[in-house]
Amino acid sequence: MSVTKYLLSERDIPRQWYNIAADLPTPLRPPLHPGTGQPIGPGDLAPLFPMGLIEQEVSRERWIDIPSEVLDLLALWRPTPLHRARRLEQALGTPARIYYKYEGVSPAGSHKPNTAVAQVYYNKKEGVRRIATETGAGQWGCALALACNFFGLEAKVYMVKVSYDQKPYRRLLMETWGGKVTPSPSRETEAGRRILAETPDSTGSLGIAISEAVEDAASREDTKYALGSVLNHVLLHQTVIGLEAKKQMDLAGEYPDVIVACCGGGSNFAGISFPFLYDKIHGRTLDVLGCEPAACPTLTRGHFHYDFGDSVGMTPLLPMHTLGHTFVPAGIHAGGLRYHGMAPLVSQLLNDGLIRAQAFQQTECFEAAVLFARTEGIVPAPESSHAILGAITEARKAKEEGKEKAILFLLSGHGHFDMSAYAAHFAGGLEDFELPACELEGAWDAIQHFPKP
Ligand SMILES: Cc1ncc(COP(=O)(O)O)c(C=O)c1O
Repeated sequence: MSVTKYLLSERDIPRQWYNIAADLPTPLRPPLHPGTGQPIGPGDLAPLFPMGLIEQEVSRERWIDIPSEVLDLLALWRPTPLHRARRLEQALGTPARIYYKYEGVSPAGSHKPNTAVAQVYYNKKEGVRRIATETGAGQWGCALALACNFFGLEAKVYMVKVSYDQKPYRRLLMETWGGKVTPSPSRETEAGRRILAETPDSTGSLGIAISEAVEDAASREDTKYALGSVLNHVLLHQTVIGLEAKKQMDLAGEYPDVIVACCGGGSNFAGISFPFLYDKIHGRTLDVLGCEPAACPTLTRGHFHYDFGDSVGMTPLLPMHTLGHTFVPAGIHAGGLRYHGMAPLVSQLLNDGLIRAQAFQQTECFEAAVLFARTEGIVPAPESSHAILGAITEARKAKEEGKEKAILFLLSGHGHFDMSAYAAHFAGGLEDFELPACELEGAWDAIQHFPKP
């Protein structure tokens, strides 16, 4: 019988995170203070984050030890399996060998708990009692509620209103782990009240929810803020994925020709690709593809510029590929990919030509997701369907070119709480969004005067 899953034991859980900042050909530009335009220091971040995480944010050490308390929790679902997608290969009639690493086996159903447990650990260590955050699709909010539950902290989650209404079971999952969930924009913060005064029927966005959570954390002594993507320390925590995948590809006797992942803020993409990009930076040939929605094409149509991480303008300015912080993406079902910016680390790698990006429409992504469910069995999250379509596109290319290739993609989560999106797809009710250039101009105009990296 041929091998379908490459499994590791708990002894193989990585003991250190890989920090790609140590190996970047072009060093990262620093975040800037929006008022002074000067680089911010650790002290500027202290109201929002514990020092342990701020140190990781600015660290240039290649390897950072994972604390044993974090490893104990990671062991609840790690190592995650690496599958060979033989049935998908057969359906495509491709000579390519397709592998996928599956993060949907975590309790929250995605890669997000990998960083949630680490972030909450460092907060707990420094005496923080409550953490405020935002969630789009609900995956990150669930991950944070789960981690806060383990460490005995209160999780306050501002959930984008459209998801709050569409996904009651995601909300209930957060509540099951003890999280407190508020639809955003809310009347509980100045930022929320300002948005509601302008747009009373606002359905919210990730950028707005971030503004609310940041304000909440900044205004309370007992509270800090946590972000589920974008920042260096979040991407760092996700590298356990790629470090395991390297061992598993070794077990399969392979090294990937192509690595594919979806890109929202960049954390699952970083998780699977950074440990392999270490090899590429040091001379190995490797193609790395980030897949994003055509309705929110940050990497393919955004500008590399300083911009706010949130919609209202409360965070430091980050050097990143951005559509402009006032850009509100269309209501596609991949809620976790509806973010105006991209992680500075991922943005810098794109600038340096170490990775490439492609945008897909949501209908074709759902078609790929259904093909995947019918061949491999797993119903993917709408976000992950972008990676599946990216991998299928590469496998079809291999077929046309008659090339054997090893394709590795990251299946970042399952879609068990996204069945209403599947229902809309089956009913033929999904819209594709072309996004004319003029729609991008307004948000770009709003940031043109910000410093250029
Ligand atoms: C399942 C899943 N995949 C991907 C993403 C995108 O986030 P990131 O780019 O940080 O991995 C999300 C975000 O919510 C998600 O829930």
